[in-house]
Amino acid sequence: MSVRTATAAIDLQALHHNVEEVKRLAPTSKVMAVLKANAYGHGLERIAVALAEQGVDAFGVARLDEALTLRACGVIKPIVLMEGFFSPQELPVLDVNNLQTVIHNEEQLEALLAEKLNTPIKVWLKVDTGMHRLGVVPEQFQAFHQALQSSDNVQKDIVLMSHLSCADDTTSRATEHQLAIFEQLTSAYSGEKSLANSAGIVGWKDCHYQWLRPGLMLYGVNPMMPEQKVETGLDIQPVMTLKSSVIAKRFIRKGESVGYGAAWTAEQDTYIGVIAIGYGDGYPRHAKNGTPVLLNGRRVALVGRVSMDMITVDLGAESVDQIGDVAVLWGQGLPIEEVAQWATTIPYELLCNITRRVNMTVSS
Ligand SMILES: Cc1ncc(COP(=O)(O)O)c(C=O)c1O
Repeated sequence: MSVRTATAAIDLQALHHNVEEVKRLAPTSKVMAVLKANAYGHGLERIAVALAEQGVDAFGVARLDEALTLRACGVIKPIVLMEGFFSPQELPVLDVNNLQTVIHNEEQLEALLAEKLNTPIKVWLKVDTGMHRLGVVPEQFQAFHQALQSSDNVQKDIVLMSHLSCADDTTSRATEHQLAIFEQLTSAYSGEKSLANSAGIVGWKDCHYQWLRPGLMLYGVNPMMPEQKVETGLDIQPVMTLKSSVIAKRFIRKGESVGYGAAWTAEQDTYIGVIAIGYGDGYPRHAKNGTPVLLNGRRVALVGRVSMDMITVDLGAESVDQIGDVAVLWGQGLPIEEVAQWATTIPYELLCNITRRVNMTVSS
């Protein structure tokens, strides 16, 4: 069937496959699926409901409104605010909705200790082992832990966590360094611990601990640096395939230019295909000439500037492509990792940038 406008096809079987891959890599750990930013652009509710059925143990979100959306659509699994609460006024909302929180700074600690909660809340104490973004510094760790442990507002089974800054790079020493700090700080504590995002799961077995926090790999994107991903043997499938249709085809003579700024000029006679997708849909405006697009079983190259609603591709002089033919921009058959490199960005950004006018279809 032809698609006239930009469509993101969401494949829940691929999602399931990727959950199984996480479990294969770390069979004894529990899985907190990271769902922030609209489940990396895939649709928060639909992904959460599917993952709950597929047996993940908890969900991680960045904002309170994301957590409340999940509760409103019937999700009863544990939900963790990965950046914690942003103001003391949010604490009663966490209490009522049975939400768990990361504690990463003094303001949060003081607010939590000062509150009178109906039920003790589950806390993930985050220590900074080298990312230098969120987390208590190692010197504060013990005092934070003691204060939390002795508060009636806090459940006794505090999870200890940290976040890796360079796990996608297996040649970097940073992960070993972070792991050593984390071990040294937490080895005396028998409770649950969590360190690994997707790259930690794939590249660093010693970081698995009791709780994994995969985001990207659940959506079928390899989290390792492009030049290092080959050795991992990772078996994941893209959950999102972004498609649209050819809406015009025209003959261009050698020396004629295409699109805004006449930024590309044909070196030989050729056909140009116009595909109904652009930066208004989230296709990256900075994708370079040559960025691959999949059309009728072959790769064709993006040429000229990306417009708001259209891109142009070089179909070649022998083209038999027709208006209505479906092109894949990324996903099945065309890894998003490759497209991201052509656009000098990362797959995370491409996925999150999908706009509301993109039609979403779901298959399970
Ligand atoms: C604390 C934390 N854990 C886990 C993740 C998931 O990371 P990834 O998508 O690389 O698996 C993130 C995402 O940024 C995060 O901030």
